[in-house]
Amino acid sequence: MLAEVLQDRAALYVAGAMTALERENFELILEFHQPLQSHVAELQEAATAVMMILVPAVATLPANLKQRILGAVDILPATTEPEAVVVTNAAGLIEWINPAFTALCGYTLVELKGRKPGQLLQGPATDQAAVARIRAAVQGKCACEETLVNYHKDGSLYRVKLALTPLLDDERQPMWFIAKEQKLPMVA
Ligand SMILES: Cc1cc2nc3c(=O)[nH]c(=O)nc-3n(C[C@H](O)[C@H](O)[C@H](O)COP(=O)(O)O)c2cc1C
Repeated sequence: MLAEVLQDRAALYVAGAMTALERENFELILEFHQPLQSHVAELQEAATAVMMILVPAVATLPANLKQRILGAVDILPATTEPEAVVVTNAAGLIEWINPAFTALCGYTLVELKGRKPGQLLQGPATDQAAVARIRAAVQGKCACEETLVNYHKDGSLYRVKLALTPLLDDERQPMWFIAKEQKLPMVA
């Protein structure tokens, strides 16, 4: 049975009642959380059924709609490098990463699942003051932004900017932590 707080969040999501950031973070959890995926799919199906009853069928589409959509797509900026994302559980152990995170650090989800990101990625060149600030943010259930040196699986170093956000339940306890990470040029 899906926790009540997740059922509530799913309802807000399907109703379109989340902020853009809440939506983005919820969709990251949806990527790996199967029970939540099924629940959202059921709600969406029900919502679609209701819409079909309430909204009369659109008889005609506006003229040139296809051209207007294609024109709008054309002026979108070229997609930038996909952002690396890590999701940990409340204890800071990895539950999910996206392919961009594997591209960043060299490790797959199988290699990282259940481990602390810092365990594999930190080393002697990592700024311990930054690590301590991340630790304090995790313990204090706060968001934080830090830049630190990490170790790729192949042993090379990279500098990464990490934006960490807790996803809190209604009692303000963390359910997950989400980190969005961006590779930066190494400084001398
Ligand atoms: C969602 C999340 C992502 C993280 N990603 C990284 C990371 O990419 N690199 C890193 O050095 N530490 C990362 N950390 C921080 C460490 O896993 C750990 O929280 C930090 O080192 C402090 O904990 P400690 O007391 O075990 O050292 C991340 C933490 C969280 C919660």
